[in-house]
Amino acid sequence: MNHEVIVACDFSSAEETLQFLDLFRDEKPFVKIGMELYYSNGPEIVRQIKARGHKIFLDLKLHDIPNTVYRTMRNLARLDVDMVNVHAAGSSEMMRAARRALDEQGSQAILLAVTQLTSTTEEAMQQELWIDHPMADTVRHYAAVSQGAGCHGVVCSPLEVTDVVHECGAGFVTVTPGVRFAEGDKGDQKRVTTPAGARKLGSHYIVMGRPITTAADPVAAYRRAMEEFQGGMEA
Ligand code: C5P
Repeated sequence: MNHEVIVACDFSSAEETLQFLDLFRDEKPFVKIGMELYYSNGPEIVRQIKARGHKIFLDLKLHDIPNTVYRTMRNLARLDVDMVNVHAAGSSEMMRAARRALDEQGSQAILLAVTQLTSTTEEAMQQELWIDHPMADTVRHYAAVSQGAGCHGVVCSPLEVTDVVHECGAGFVTVTPGVRFAEGDKGDQKRVTTPAGARKLGSHYIVMGRPITTAADPVAAYRRAMEEFQGGMEA
């Protein structure tokens, strides 16, 4: 695994996204396309970014009945992206349906399960979702269920990677949002660490959006994130 920084392109328009990617002349960041961009531009934006040579994580977090997820994932598989995801909360039958759809289409995409959103606090999880366990145990359990259902890895906070590796082994992919530069603004993220911290904790890939997309110099911010993450050194 490459230990790459995945840039969350959370823009609404294709123009804004492509203008942002135009800034990168010497590198081709791994791009995450989420709901905001996909729902406003559809599959065409995936094709456009792919045609420019970027690897793509299509972050649509599917969560529905197994048949709907199966049929949707079959469509997404045809876009030939590198990573896709579902919510582990959809349970194992749904995750198995997603995996079956990918396999039937001959897709090599990494299938990830979202454990708990990195914006969710333990308190909100317990009091609103009524999950009466500590966050770390919940994420570890969701990871085990996801692995049993055929997912290749999970999306979790860097702070939970150690638990996930302990439960599922080092080959199970961990993709971690909730990453901020040491002096950065956390925004709505709650369970956060730095790129170097994420590396030390064992993340395979980190997802960074606003710290790069809203930086005065996004290319410099991306390079710094890559350096800190790949070198594991504090800035
Ligand atoms: O801007 P920021 O770095 O917070 O962006 C994080 C990205 O990761 C967002 O696109 C968000 O949707 C996504 N994400 C997350 N937590 C998860 C799964 C995905 O923050 N558990």
